[in-house]
Parts: sequence; C-alpha cells; structure tokens
Amino acid sequence: MLILGIETSCDETAAALVDDSAVLSNIISSQIDLHASFGGVVPEVASRKHVEAIGYVIKEALDSAHKMLSDIDGIAVSARYGLIGSLIVGVSAAKSLAYALKVPLVGTHHIEGHIFAPILSHPEMPLPHVCLTVSGGHTMLVYVKGLCQYEVMGNTLDDAAGEAFDKIAKFLNIGFPGGPAIDRLSLRGKRTAFDLPRPMVKSRSLDFSFSGLKTCVVNMFRGKEQDTIPLPDVAASFQEAIVDVLVSKAIQAAERKGATAISVTGGVSSNRRLREAFQETCGKLGLEVFFPLPELRTDNAAMVAAAGAARLERGEASGLDLNAVPTAPLESTR
Ligand code: KG4
Ligand code: ZN
Repeated sequence: MLILGIETSCDETAAALVDDSAVLSNIISSQIDLHASFGGVVPEVASRKHVEAIGYVIKEALDSAHKMLSDIDGIAVSARYGLIGSLIVGVSAAKSLAYALKVPLVGTHHIEGHIFAPILSHPEMPLPHVCLTVSGGHTMLVYVKGLCQYEVMGNTLDDAAGEAFDKIAKFLNIGFPGGPAIDRLSLRGKRTAFDLPRPMVKSRSLDFSFSGLKTCVVNMFRGKEQDTIPLPDVAASFQEAIVDVLVSKAIQAAERKGATAISVTGGVSSNRRLREAFQETCGKLGLEVFFPLPELRTDNAAMVAAAGAARLERGEASGLDLNAVPTAPLESTR
C-alpha cells in the first residue's frame, strides 16, 4: 500500500512516500534558519511558510520516488498535537488530495508518528516495548502494547526535554535549535563540572519536570558575561542531568512492564550522549534499545505515513471532516 505522509505540525514542511516498510522518499523543508533570529519558532511565520512550501514538498516527494499522484493508495497527515496554524496547512492539503484522488485519508497524532519512527527503521523491533518519545514539544513514556495500542506511563509536567535544551541554549546565547548546539559544545566539556539536580529521578512517578533544572542553570550564570562562562562544561553538565533522568525513567518503565526492549525517538534522540548512555545502561541490563534512522529522528513525514498505514490497515480512515487539533491525548488517535 503506497501511502503519502504529510507533516506540518511545527516548523518542518514534510512529505514522504512509504510502501509497506520501504521509505521511497522523505522530503523535509526546514524553517530553522527563518526562526533562528527569533530564538524560537514563531507560529504565524511557521504557518505562512508551510503554505508556501507544501505543494513543492509533496511534488518533490513524488518525483524523487518516481511516482505519480495516481499511484497513491492512501494519505496520512499529522492532524493532532502541534501548532494549530501549522497543522491546518497539512490537514487541508491532505483532505484536498484525498478528495481529488478518491483515496482513503487518515489523520494521525504527531506523537504516534514519532512512536512509529523506530518501528519503521527496525521492523524486527519487538512488541510490546516501552517508547521514550522526546522532542521540543513533549517528553513522554509510552507502553506500546501493539501497533496503535498505547498506554501513556509518564509525561512532562512542564518543559519538554528539547524545550529545556532550547531555552538554556538561548540563555547562553549559543544558537538555535539548542539541542544540537549543546550536543556539540558538550564534546569539549566535563559532565561532572557542575553538580546539577536530576529532577524527579528518585520519585516513583514516571513523569518528568525540567523547569527546575533550567532555572538552576539560569540562576548560576545570570548577569555573567558570556566569555566568563565555561560553556562546554555547562553544556556537558546540563546535558548529563537531562540524560540521567531520561535513561533512568525509561528503564524504570521497562522494568515495571517487564518489557525487553526500549525505543528512543523524537528530536532529542539525535543526542549523542543520550544514545551512548542508553546503549551502556541497556547493555548492562540485557535490554534491547532501538533508535530511528538519523533522518527519522526529528520531524518527518515517513513516520506519519507508517502510522497512517497501520491505522488504515485497522480500517480507521478519517472522514473529510477531519480537523486539526493542537492538543489531544495520544489515546484519541482517530
Ligand atoms: O521532534 P522534533 O523535530 O520536533 C518536535 O516535535 O518538537 O524535535 C525538535 C527538538 C528541539 O528541541 C531540538 O533542540 C531537539 O529536538 N534536538 C536535540 C538534538 N537535535 C535536536 N536535542 C538534543 N540533542 C540533539 N542533538
Ligand atoms: Zn515532533
């Protein structure tokens, strides 16, 4: 089944063609440079850029897969969770194409897309498993009981991990998006240079809270000239605190469910130290750990197509009354 996936929930305009588990094309037009000067994504600017890019991006996804619109068997779109103006652009494009081509349409949840990224990358991944999905908009621990069957075990109570990376990078004036900037700087720093808190690591709750950690770093260096701050050490220590919490909570979740495998997905799964720490800890405990292929870690439409294909196979097509919804629980993915 050839599925066109469309993703516009934040600042990437993306389209992909996926045929069963084969990614035939995966086109991403990023707006990062546009938003960098604002130090964060400006929603109104993002939606306007999606409008400009969506047609070209879909055409490029078709061309690079050597397919035509008439080859498409179904259309999947991120319809839930994200910036409302951005989501509407993808949903409108998907609805128009589904109507014109007379093919099934399915609206998926953005986080469900991230959950499918490691599954698409490693079709041999066992089910059930525990998925840590961690990006700029969310940090969530999900027990993936089967395809499209989820139990949310933990969620962020305030800042998402990627958001904390972005805010600290903005405070330190080291670039946007903050995650990659901190990841790079930390290579030259000492992880133990600053003794930073590991919020909620001792609690039995599997929820996350990163705003206190962020405030702690801000309080340490507020008012200091940038060239007096040991940036690599701050980056490495801050990153290590986040990594410690993420790894420890994901392991707790797997142990509670008796799961033998963990997947780590979303933009923050690109973090070098996070992957290293998961591999070390899971290796010691005999757990398998899976990450998406690099191009499927941040927002993309191949993951949306994979999630949509699974939904369509379950007979869960959406109607043409499909709407964009900015916040929706993962459970309500229809
Ligand atoms: O999944 P994604 O592309 O979009 C959302 O759904 O939010 O994730 C973007 C987030 C940003 O906060 C960015 O700073 C973070 O992923 N990120 C990273 C790295 N690469 C991207 N965080 C830490 N280390 C990285 N290497
Ligand atoms: Zn995302």
